[in-house]
Formats: sequence, structure tokens, C-alpha cells
Amino acid sequence: TAPAAVIVAIDGPAGTGKSSTSKAVAAKLGLGYLDTGAQYRAITWWMVNNGIDADDATAVADASAKPVIVSGTDPSGPTITVDGVDVSGPIRTQEVTSKVSAVSAVPEVRARITELQRSIAAEAPRGIVVEGRDIGTTVLPDADVKVFLTASAEARAARRSGELKGKDAAGLAATQAALAKRDAADSGRKTSPLAKADDAIEVDTTDLTLEQVIECVVTLVEEKRSA
Ligand code: DC
Repeated sequence: TAPAAVIVAIDGPAGTGKSSTSKAVAAKLGLGYLDTGAQYRAITWWMVNNGIDADDATAVADASAKPVIVSGTDPSGPTITVDGVDVSGPIRTQEVTSKVSAVSAVPEVRARITELQRSIAAEAPRGIVVEGRDIGTTVLPDADVKVFLTASAEARAARRSGELKGKDAAGLAATQAALAKRDAADSGRKTSPLAKADDAIEVDTTDLTLEQVIECVVTLVEEKRSA
């Protein structure tokens, strides 16, 4: 008989290697992959594009049901569209990054995106790796495996700067400041803040290679499957 679908929740702040780890684990185990940050970025992109002030929580809440967000869950080529438009590039701009915490703090936005995430997870035939901030605590509290990734502020800023390509020391300090601000907003919001679930396994990635982190999570899933 085919193994039951396995649900893996991977949470943590920005720059801890969530995306790289989650994609690789999903590919190795033949599972789907869902980047929930990309969904919050997509709805933020739509707000910006439609002239809605990200800091106007009422306007954001009123518009939150309008954009149609579709996520493709193949780990070798995840996709995200808004109203049929591929936004995988535009959701990574600094403008969207600076506004996503405000938009994602609005309860109506979270309710809508959470519902979407649950239906995607329920439909994954073999299971799925879902990465985000509140997956283990709120979105999928019954996940089979819950991982909470951490890393020092310096390591996270260095990794993120590397992704943004060739930043100097001033750029690194600015990246660290921007990450700290976003983490504080994501951890401090009222509705399902960034948090470690009580039953999540915390993995500090500061001194680990990406390969080591991937191996660690794969082992956790395999142990669960054979238990
Ligand atoms: O993972 P990321 O940096 O692309 O996420 C972008 C933002 O989306 C993050 O700063 C907060 C929000 N987010 C969230 O509120 N809940 C999630 N499950 C995932 C992301």
C-alpha cells in the first residue's frame, strides 16, 4: 500500500534557509512544496499595484478577497500567479518586501491565505512541505513533522545579502537592520505571529551547511514515516 501523505511544517524567521531546505526536502522525498511567504508577498504586490496603502488595515481588509492567488507546488519549479499573472519576480522587490509585514498582519488577509494553504495541503497526494511563520502553530497544527529553523542575526543577514548579490559592509548592516525590523513585526503581530510550536524541533542552522540541514529534516521525516 502507498504510504499515507506526510505533512511537514517548516517555520522560522527570514534568512534561516527555510526555502532552500524545504524545496530540497520536498524534492528528495517526492512531496509537494508550498512557499507561504510567496503568497503573502503576492497579495502585497496586488495591493501595491492597485494603489492600496499597505498601512491602511481597513482598506487592505476590504480588498483582501479580490486577488486570485494560485501556487504551483512542484519543488523543482514552484510558481505563483495573481489573477493569472506570473508574479514570481515582482514579489521579491524591495517595495513588496518592505510592505509585506503590514499586509500580512491584517486578520482578513491571514484568514483568506490560511484557508488557501489548508486546501493546498489537503490536496497534495503524497504530502507536502509547507514553509512559513505560523504553519506549525496555526495553519497545520496536526502536521506530522514540525521544524523551527533559527540562525544568528549575522548569519541570516549574510545569507540574505548573498542572495541579493555582492553587497558591501554598509549593505550588510542595512540588510541586518531590515531583517530585524521585519522579524520584530512578524513576531509582534496579534494574529498568528512567527512562533515555534511547542512540539516543533528547533534546528539552529548558524554553523550548519545547507546539506546538513536538509539531511537533518529528511531524517526526521523518515523516522516519522517508519514509526
Ligand atoms: O518567507 P518570506 O520572507 O518570503 O515571507 C514574507 C513575509 O510574509 C514575512 O515577512 C511575513 C509574512 N509571512 C507570514 O506572515 N506568515 C507566513 N506563514 C509566511 C510569511
